[in-house]
Amino acid sequence: MKTQVCIIGGGPSGLMLSQLLHLKGIDTVVLEKHSREYVLARIRAGVLEHGFAELMREAQCGERMDREGEIHDGFFISHDGVLDRVDLQKYSGGSSVVVYGQTELTRDLYEARDKMNGVVIHNADDVKPHDLTSDAPFVTYREGDEIVRIDCDFVIGADGFHGVSRKSIPRDVLTEYEKVYPFGWLGVLSRTKPVSPELIYAKHERGFALCSLRSQVLSRYYIQVPLTDTVEDWSDDAFWAELKRRLPDEVGARMETGPSIEKSIAPLRSFVAEPMRYGNLFLAGDAAHIVPPTGARGLNSAASDIYYLYHAMVAHYKDGDDSGLENYSAKALARVWKAQRFSWWMTTLLHTFPDSIPYDQKLQQTDLEYLFSSEAALSSLAENYVGLPF
Ligand code: FAD
Ligand code: PHB
Repeated sequence: MKTQVCIIGGGPSGLMLSQLLHLKGIDTVVLEKHSREYVLARIRAGVLEHGFAELMREAQCGERMDREGEIHDGFFISHDGVLDRVDLQKYSGGSSVVVYGQTELTRDLYEARDKMNGVVIHNADDVKPHDLTSDAPFVTYREGDEIVRIDCDFVIGADGFHGVSRKSIPRDVLTEYEKVYPFGWLGVLSRTKPVSPELIYAKHERGFALCSLRSQVLSRYYIQVPLTDTVEDWSDDAFWAELKRRLPDEVGARMETGPSIEKSIAPLRSFVAEPMRYGNLFLAGDAAHIVPPTGARGLNSAASDIYYLYHAMVAHYKDGDDSGLENYSAKALARVWKAQRFSWWMTTLLHTFPDSIPYDQKLQQTDLEYLFSSEAALSSLAENYVGLPF
């Protein structure tokens, strides 16, 4: 098989790039390790920044998002028994975010790929990139007993944190920066009315909590848990009781509870791999960088990678201009690190750290007091949360 761009990973990053390039007449093949059902069963991001939403529209996939997604102009931070609102629109100069689930946008991207006869190969086993520093790279995968070879001009590593792409870059070329947090998030999806029309990020001495949503009948809640906890340790009743304890009384009192339809634990990690290019391999999204979900930046950082790569590929194929490809890693990393800083800051502000000393706790409290007493601090939070320009 032959294509121009072979994309490893059929998550949001890979599908979005494939769709955008196809619309410009550039041929792609997407290789996804899992079945479509498996990919669509993963419950992850809920908050999309303006830039990501724009990219969905450019990919001609924004119709359902615009119809069913909710525009949020602000969110709440609960602390010390009170709710303080962050007015995103006011402090970001008119921007907002869209609440639309990653599951839904991935479904929209798959449907768009199907409609255009895009090639997305599922259950691709043993995917391996080869000859990445040559002009003729290729990717192989196994289909039953047969090894299939795809010749291409470029390979895109959009296969998430545990994928094969980053691992195929030699160790002495890659520098990895990592910070692992001593806790995870236990997430529950339930068919209940959300407790608040806007998200609530809760700082509490028992640990962080988040009240989010997917629609007016579907709620998504998270609580900070120790890394040693498992999903089996948490019955639905225990989850709801703990969530309520971490929220102001009046919020807990009006919380609608019900059976969980999904329950999972995500460890929290900050990670960046540099550079994001090796020969004709380009890394994008979680394959190159991870943030703790507190600032809702993960998918949104992937969006800027895809935006830069898309324009760089179009310039290469249409104008013979390779400057975008040459600058890709430096340009993407500059924005990636800003998302890292913001996600680390928001995580540090709102979580309970098991090893913190009283001095750290005083600083955390002061940071929060400063935030709600300074328009400059609120503007800094708002402009990062709605997304810095691409
Ligand atoms: P992935 O979604 O990981 O997709 C990679 C794909 O590659 C997968 O389908 C995988 O099966 C496939 N793959 C892996 N290995 C191989 C292989 N060897 N061969 C072929 N295919 C392979 N971000 C936000 O912006 N906002 C939020 O509100 C938000 N909330 C989050 C909440 C939680 C609980 C979590 C865990 C994450 C959240 N994120 C959020 C982050 C966001 O979900 C990720 O950043 C996003 O999924 C990255 O997309 P991706 O396509 O780069 O990687
Ligand atoms: C979510 O709805 O899953 C969600 C929302 C905001 C975050 C993280 C996750 O910061």
